[in-house]
Amino acid sequence: MTRSIRKAVFPVAGLGTRFLPATKASPKEMLPVVDKPLIQYAVEEAVAAGVEVMVFVTGRNKTAISNHFDTAYELEHELESRNKEEMLRLVRNITPPHVSCVFIRQNMPLGLGHAVLCAEPVVGDEPFAVILADDLIDDGERGCLAQMVEQFQQTRCSILATEQVPPEETASYGIVATDGDGRLVPVRGIVEKPAPAEAPSNRGVVGRYLLTPGIFRELVRTGRGAGGEIQLTDGIARLLQKEPVMAYTFEGVRYDCGSKLGYLQATVDYAVQHHHLGEEFQAWLRQRYGQG
Ligand code: G1P
Repeated sequence: MTRSIRKAVFPVAGLGTRFLPATKASPKEMLPVVDKPLIQYAVEEAVAAGVEVMVFVTGRNKTAISNHFDTAYELEHELESRNKEEMLRLVRNITPPHVSCVFIRQNMPLGLGHAVLCAEPVVGDEPFAVILADDLIDDGERGCLAQMVEQFQQTRCSILATEQVPPEETASYGIVATDGDGRLVPVRGIVEKPAPAEAPSNRGVVGRYLLTPGIFRELVRTGRGAGGEIQLTDGIARLLQKEPVMAYTFEGVRYDCGSKLGYLQATVDYAVQHHHLGEEFQAWLRQRYGQG
């Protein structure tokens, strides 16, 4: 039986310190790129890949995320009474009706691997996706996760989205060693945030993973690694000893919205392409900076 990927885990418990003070009282995942919060882009990518259950691993100060995916009665009532059809459509259709959202608290900040492990009671014994919302991927046509799910139908093993990162930036990523450089190749090794001199390559993991449930058995046994945290990368390194894991070079542009520079680049690119704002914004850019 070819079961597809039905569940996606969104680790959203992080403090978002790089965006303080903006993230003092609201989650970094709610930062908007033009008019949509990062977490909504991530959920839409999962929906486009056929995911039906969104599992949010949350922490303190994250109620804005659950509210965002819930019905806003007062707001809807207000918009209805003012005949604001278009706005009503925007707030109502955040997720399609067949999609459900589950929220789990990660009550200790023990790292990404620990966050994923917190989702086990909901994910159970089936393959699932992990999406890190601060990696925003503009796919043009086919979402990154949809591309990975398509690969998964053939391979049935864990798949990590990867891209070439600047050699001097390996210490910001999980870095993989692979057999060959094709679009989908077996991972031989993986290490979390190595210094450039220690990095096995400059093929970096970005925030999209398809994992078999075997990862949970490994994460339980994974001790603290880089930064004193339980790293998903270390769990994957263990999984690799037992089953194949593939590295996939996705089609699309990734923005590191966990950094201010990446976030600003995403904002400008999405604004330039925006169906309502795009032309006006480009004209303004040209006028102000001499190019658009
Ligand atoms: C996490 C992972 C890292 C991965 C990165 C992708 O790091 O630990 O392996 O390469 O996401 O964005 P973080 O960016 O949360 O420090």
